[in-house]
Amino acid sequence: MSATEKIIGVVGAGVMGAGIAQVAAAAGHRVLLVDTQPGVAANAKARLAEVLAKLVEKNRLAAAERDALLARIEPGESIAALASASVVIEAIVENLPAKQALFRELEAVVAPGTVLATNTSSLSVSEIAGALARPERFAGMHFFNPAPLMPLVEVVAGGRTSPAVVGTLTELAHAWGKTPVQAKDSPGFIVNRGARPFYGEALRFAEETGVDAVTIDALLRAAGFRMGPLELIDLIGAEINLAATRSVFAATGNDARYRPSRLVEENVAAGRLGRKSGRGFYDYARDAKLAPVVLPREPAPAAIVVHGDLGPAQALVELWRRMGVAVERRESAGGCVEIDRVKVALTDGRTAHERAAADGAVWAVFDLSLDYGACRHLGLAATDDRSARIAAGLLQVTGTQVSRLPDVPGLLVARTLAMLITEAADIVLRGVASVHDVDLAMQKGLNFPGGPLGWADKIGANYAVGLLDRLAVTDAARYGVNDLLRRAAQSGGKFHA
Ligand code: NAI
Repeated sequence: MSATEKIIGVVGAGVMGAGIAQVAAAAGHRVLLVDTQPGVAANAKARLAEVLAKLVEKNRLAAAERDALLARIEPGESIAALASASVVIEAIVENLPAKQALFRELEAVVAPGTVLATNTSSLSVSEIAGALARPERFAGMHFFNPAPLMPLVEVVAGGRTSPAVVGTLTELAHAWGKTPVQAKDSPGFIVNRGARPFYGEALRFAEETGVDAVTIDALLRAAGFRMGPLELIDLIGAEINLAATRSVFAATGNDARYRPSRLVEENVAAGRLGRKSGRGFYDYARDAKLAPVVLPREPAPAAIVVHGDLGPAQALVELWRRMGVAVERRESAGGCVEIDRVKVALTDGRTAHERAAADGAVWAVFDLSLDYGACRHLGLAATDDRSARIAAGLLQVTGTQVSRLPDVPGLLVARTLAMLITEAADIVLRGVASVHDVDLAMQKGLNFPGGPLGWADKIGANYAVGLLDRLAVTDAARYGVNDLLRRAAQSGGKFHA
């Protein structure tokens, strides 16, 4: 049988099922789209026809192609209609007993060789498989919303899934123009778990500091993320974000790293769900044009002394020199810039106050960027106003806006990236997915500007570990470093060859 001769069954014609049916039909398959609620599958097809009509109007799809695609989708209302499918993808309600009952029913209807897959995003694939007579033919095939546009598909192997089934679903996703990655069954799979620190650290920072959402989001956008975490929660819906966090928290036995944030819980309790309710971290009637709080422009320093190496911020030295700052280099330890008796350094997890207490100087520390040359907004913290102004003047030399942040360990971007890195390393160490697939999944499933393990290679695993070790002094359960990451820091090894 050629790949497109396979008949694809999709059960559940909601947002995801309809999207998956569209993807399969667009790739040339006959698709049986079944929803047991009367009229739901037919309505889903009618809605798809409307969407495709708009694409035809805009000349983005030929009318004949649209007609052929729609003709390949057959709506149905009974599970028995799926008898001839070679692959069935389930996208019904996110409820374990409902899914188990459906798969039991499906097993009685389909041929012995039919592959069965679930699109669950938070249930255990192995647990669903527990209800099946033949769990080896069952796996997760996790699409992202909207399925026709999002490239990533996580193919998830349960404890008893056969490798051949993983292979079939991976090939199918490829043939559908998707980017498949393979994961072993585990809470949140790759993306929903790997993404938790992106939200978690911003929320923790907001709780600790009271810094406004606009500034937090702007700083993370300047770090390369397409959207800031708080505006992203507002877009997705606070209740959906909270459900994802709670499900990983519960499935990991209440691991402190995933503890839901009080701020999101409060938003959900108050009905501040985000864009859909007009209010979340932002008030959409009012806040649209709010700008982040930044420091005024300060004079650039004429001359600086650079002590030792600035670590991941070393590239700044050359940028400053090119902008006309006279740089004197000293081979001293410590890695900082000295201007007019103020010491300025990239955060290493210690606060400016801690560093001042250690050497009696006045200090400013600034945040991490993966590309200081392109970065247009950085946060800094300082022991006093004068140090903040002098450090701002230095950072502004490269055209960067500067926000003054409260003096908390690891600032905002550095600790967010370090936590994303240790989380990604944890996914690899537990054998859930390969280094390659973890980084690919974070980019294709979340639009991240790179993969976390690639970031570790770039900034140095030792930098991330040093930062997290200092944060662990305040909260060991949350900031404990993954062993694989620590070993990379100790050996100087890279995740990507
Ligand atoms: P939805 O609520 O839009 O659609 C579910 C559909 O399943 C409804 O039309 C309902 O009538 C139908 N249904 C319920 N029980 C059924 C049964 N026993 N047999 C046949 N049809 C049945 O839900 P949505 O958002 O499409 O989610 C479906 C699945 O996809 C869930 O497992 C969810 O976790 C997962 N998922 C959802 C994503 C999202 O962003 N919405 C992303 C990735 C996965």
